[in-house]
Amino acid sequence: MDINTSADIEKGAAYLREGRLVAFPTETVYGLGADALNPMAVAKIFELKERPSFDPLIVHIAELSELEKLTVEPDERVLALAERFWPGPLTMVLNKSRIIPDIVTSGLPTVGIRMPDNEIALSLIMTAGCPVAAPSANKFGRTSPTTAAHVRKYFPDIDFIIDGGKTRVGIESTVIGITEYGFRLLRHGVVTREEIETIVPYDNTSKSDVLVIAPGMLKSHYSPAKHMIVSPPGKISESERPKAGLLSFSGQDTENYGRVMLLTQSMDLREYAVNLFEAMHTLEESEVEFIVAEPVPETGIGIAIMDRLRKASWTKKS
Ligand code: TXA
Ligand code: MG
Repeated sequence: MDINTSADIEKGAAYLREGRLVAFPTETVYGLGADALNPMAVAKIFELKERPSFDPLIVHIAELSELEKLTVEPDERVLALAERFWPGPLTMVLNKSRIIPDIVTSGLPTVGIRMPDNEIALSLIMTAGCPVAAPSANKFGRTSPTTAAHVRKYFPDIDFIIDGGKTRVGIESTVIGITEYGFRLLRHGVVTREEIETIVPYDNTSKSDVLVIAPGMLKSHYSPAKHMIVSPPGKISESERPKAGLLSFSGQDTENYGRVMLLTQSMDLREYAVNLFEAMHTLEESEVEFIVAEPVPETGIGIAIMDRLRKASWTKKS
């Protein structure tokens, strides 16, 4: 880590301890962080994001020992998942301990916890000496940021942004709930159901009542400022194409589009995920009138990608 980054981390950690907000990179997307144990600081996140108070935040930790303090008796399944996937893009929703303020969890008895796989994030949390509550650093319902510039676009007056370059994964963490019978998926991400099932069974009993609707399950989310549709690019009429920006997966049927963003060179879903939100930001800032997203195969992390595309393009039927 270079000297500037170390200085930024010191400054960010001091801000967090003072109850101020700091945006920072994780491996998935940038987070808008506050000291998770300081309710006044956490309230500023909801205010700045214009986030409804019913949408709980993820708490980020840097050491496994924090899990014991923030949750009630994590069982051996939880520890096995942590061992396998942390640091990394998996959030576990667990019964919270009393030290977590209600505002963090929107009054729920559970808290989402993860250990991010990013050197800056980990060292910020360690230096601050507190768990860090952080949603993605975007206005509520909008496209998540994968660069510091995206964060600045949403929050020009924010106290401080630590710039760690473009994020490595590009879409938000997988969120799971742990039940008596196994795990439930609350939000798809690059850690897939199959990978998790190698450690803990999938709960398909529909008996568990522990899980509330996660706002990541809202129909509309991640929306760019321009109208977006999911469609094979060849189906859009030739006359409409010049007005449209295309998010391309296959590189095919790109003729006549106003702008073409080829998100992967070799139809690689991981590469596509890394580039998706950045391309959505680029298109919303460009001259195109609307965005066409080519569907991707719904296997592996393609499930998480299609989830983002559908929600970003969802419009209320009138
Ligand atoms: O990759 C990520 O998860 C990023 C980075 C910054 O860590 N964070 C992120 O946070 O995406 P956010 O707030 O944008 O999304 C968190 C999701 C929401 O859908 C929220 O409803 C769900 O996690 N969640 C958090 N706590 C929960 C809980 N106690 N019960 C159910 N869902 C919860
Ligand atoms: Mg978000």
